[in-house]
Amino acid sequence: MATEVGKKVQGFYNKTPFPDYDLSRFNCKDDLVANAWSFAEILDQSIDKDASIIDIGTGTGQLSAFLSLRRKCVWGIDFSDSSLKKAKALKKKLKLDSLHLKKVDILDEKQIEDIGKKFDVILCMGVLHHTGNAYAGFQNILKLLKPNGLIAVGLANLYASLPLKARIFLEITVFKNNQKVKDEFIRMQIGDVEDKERARGWWNDQYLHPHETTHTIGEILRWFDKNGIGFVQIVPNKPDLAIRGVWNEEGKPNIVSRSLKQIKWVDQLDREGGYWITFGRLKSPKTKEAKKSKTKELKNSKKK
Ligand SMILES: C[S@@+](CC[C@H](N)C(=O)[O-])C[C@H]1O[C@@H](n2cnc3c(N)ncnc32)[C@H](O)[C@@H]1O
Repeated sequence: MATEVGKKVQGFYNKTPFPDYDLSRFNCKDDLVANAWSFAEILDQSIDKDASIIDIGTGTGQLSAFLSLRRKCVWGIDFSDSSLKKAKALKKKLKLDSLHLKKVDILDEKQIEDIGKKFDVILCMGVLHHTGNAYAGFQNILKLLKPNGLIAVGLANLYASLPLKARIFLEITVFKNNQKVKDEFIRMQIGDVEDKERARGWWNDQYLHPHETTHTIGEILRWFDKNGIGFVQIVPNKPDLAIRGVWNEEGKPNIVSRSLKQIKWVDQLDREGGYWITFGRLKSPKTKEAKKSKTKELKNSKKK
C-alpha cells in the first residue's frame, strides 16, 4: 500500500511518465544505441557484461533497455503503471529478452523481498528524493545488492537545485502561462524542445513535481557509512569519466572539499536541475570482519 506521498507521486508518473520518448523512434536494437545519451554509454562501458543489473525507478525504461542489449539479466522496477507500460512496449517491440520489468514500490519491504534475487549492480537514479522517505528507500533497496555489489544513487542536491527552485518560483508568479519562457527554461536544461514528449516529460518532472526532497553529499556519505557501503566517487564534473569509468575509487571528500564542490555546483549543475550521483560498493562481510578484527588488534597492541 503506497504512502500518501507515494500515491501522489505514483499518480503524477502515471499521467506523465519519465523520461518518456516517442516509441516510433525505436524500430530496432540499434536505435537504442543511437539514442543512448553519453552517460548511459559510460555506464554501459563501466559495468561488466556478465553483471546482473537492477535499475530501480526505471521509469519508461530507456536506460534498462539499453543496458540489457549486452547482458543476460537486467531488471527494471517502478511503481508507475503507465511508465512500465511504455517500457514493456519497448521491450516487446525490440524483443529484449534479457530485460525483466516489474511493478514494485520500493518503500514496501515485502515487494522488495518478493523480487527474490540479488544483483551485482543497483542503479537508483532520480528516484529516492521522490519517495517521501529517501533513507528508508535506500535501506530497502540495499537488500537487493550482492556482497561487493556496486550501487549508484542519483539525487537532487540541496544547494545545486537552488537556481531551478528560483525558476520554478518565477514560473508560477511572474511568467505564469508564458510558453516562450517555459520553452527557454526547458531549453536551458535539455538543449532543445524538438522532441515534444521528452520536453514535456522534463517540464513536468522539474517544474510540476508533487514531491521532491533535496540532499547533501555529507548526508549520503552518512547513509553509506551506516550501511556498510564504501564510497567510490561522485559524478559529475569528471572530464575523464569516459576513460576511467564510474567505479573509479577516489578519496572520500572531507567537509571542506564537499562544501566547495556544492557551492560550485550551484552554477555547474544547473542544467541537471542540481542532480548528482554518488557511486559506492557494498563491503563484503569478510572486509567488514577483517576491519573489525584489525581495529581490535590495534587496540590490544596499544593496551600492551
Ligand atoms: C525522475 S523518474 C527517474 C526515471 C529514471 N530512473 C531516470 O533517471 O530517467 C523517477 C521514477 O521513480 C519512480 N518512483 C518514485 N517513487 C517510487 C517508489 N516508491 N517505488 C518505485 N518507483 C518509484 C517513479 O514512478 C518514476 O518513474
